[in-house]
Amino acid sequence: MHSFQTVADIRIEPGGAAKLDAYVDGLCANKRIAVITDKGVRALGLIDAGIAALEEAGYQIMVFDDVVADPPEGIVLQGAAAVKAFQAGLVIGFGGGSPMDTAKVIAHLASSDQKIHELYGVGLAKGPTLPLMLVPTTAGTGSEVTNVAILTTGETEKKGIVADSLYADRVLLDAQLTIGLPKSITASTGIDAMVHAIEAYTSIIEKNPISDALALAALRKLRRAIVAACGDGADMDARNDMLIGAMLAGQAFSNAPCAGVHALAYPLGGFFHVPHGLSNALVLTEVMKYNQPKADHWYGEIARDLGVGGNGSALIDEMLRLKEATDVPKTLSAVNIAAEAIPMMAKDAMTKDRLLVNNARELTYAATLDIYEAIL
Ligand SMILES: NC(=O)c1ccc[n+]([C@@H]2O[C@H](COP(=O)([O-])OP(=O)(O)OC[C@H]3O[C@@H](n4cnc5c(N)ncnc54)[C@H](O)[C@@H]3O)[C@@H](O)[C@H]2O)c1
Ligand SMILES: [Fe+2]
Repeated sequence: MHSFQTVADIRIEPGGAAKLDAYVDGLCANKRIAVITDKGVRALGLIDAGIAALEEAGYQIMVFDDVVADPPEGIVLQGAAAVKAFQAGLVIGFGGGSPMDTAKVIAHLASSDQKIHELYGVGLAKGPTLPLMLVPTTAGTGSEVTNVAILTTGETEKKGIVADSLYADRVLLDAQLTIGLPKSITASTGIDAMVHAIEAYTSIIEKNPISDALALAALRKLRRAIVAACGDGADMDARNDMLIGAMLAGQAFSNAPCAGVHALAYPLGGFFHVPHGLSNALVLTEVMKYNQPKADHWYGEIARDLGVGGNGSALIDEMLRLKEATDVPKTLSAVNIAAEAIPMMAKDAMTKDRLLVNNARELTYAATLDIYEAIL
């Protein structure tokens, strides 16, 4: 038996975010909107025209821009209290994965009696939630169409909330918002999206034909566009393909969840604040090599679909080529992680059961040590 869920209302328009008043139509009965973002996105002015259009149309707006990368639980709680006090009728998450994930949990907490610690895990967050709209400004996480929010608890641990009540009510994909993304963020978030598609296609428990089709479609777009978008940030066709590719990959992995690459990537973000996409890019090809004995046929199917070769090794080579062509760092040392940290990271990776259970080949502690050492 397979089942597949996704956001029911996805709209695509380059330049659309300037007309947010039209895009929120029907979502906010009391005309009070909370916008969740971060200071970087806000300073870029990406949301200014949209807020002006909403105010012009008679909406009252509060902006919570305290989100930081790998959002800590405490900031989410502060945001939820502010949104509740404002009596918002709609939450808009506007930014990369961090503001969108924060907005998902805020929309939940602001209308629920559940405490945040009751939500971590799969299927534990139960509705009702405030109406939620998501507008991505990076092309990577696919968070706009997933039922996942990743928060940092305590000092270092990244934990996931996975529940269908986290699906947004509406998504706006406006590639214009991503034009100014620096090359390094374009590259690492784009590789994150490719990892989502590869892990969805090779996810052993919930692999399904709809996710498979979406993952292949995502990889076709992302592979073509990532080098072009890194070379010329203003290439609108490439930006649009990146944004749509990341969304398709998000739909795929929301139903056929991620696996070993993400499990080994999370400790890099949790302990050392290496950006999520870069963490994935660093561990990707070594995890693929480890998985190859069990996943070779699936990697080969992807390679043939992309036209890059006939077997699993061809896909690994292609991902190595893309990392090279987009200049992403290749070693732990390049992101200031020393050999002494490897046992601690491997121990932490072993706690990511939610992801490890989906991996094509069982990832042991010893294998995880070897993978980190290979990229030292
Ligand atoms: N919910 C999911 O399904 C899911 C999936 C993958 C990752 N994640 C989570 O998403 C987070 C990472 O998200 P991310 O990679 O999008 O990065 P991010 O949201 O953390 O943002 C990274 C940086 O990019 C800047 N930025 C965002 N948009 C920009 C733009 N258009 N131009 C210039 N700068 C811009 C931000 O200000 C920030 O400084 C992590 O916490 C990760 O765990 C969630
Ligand atoms: Fe990811």
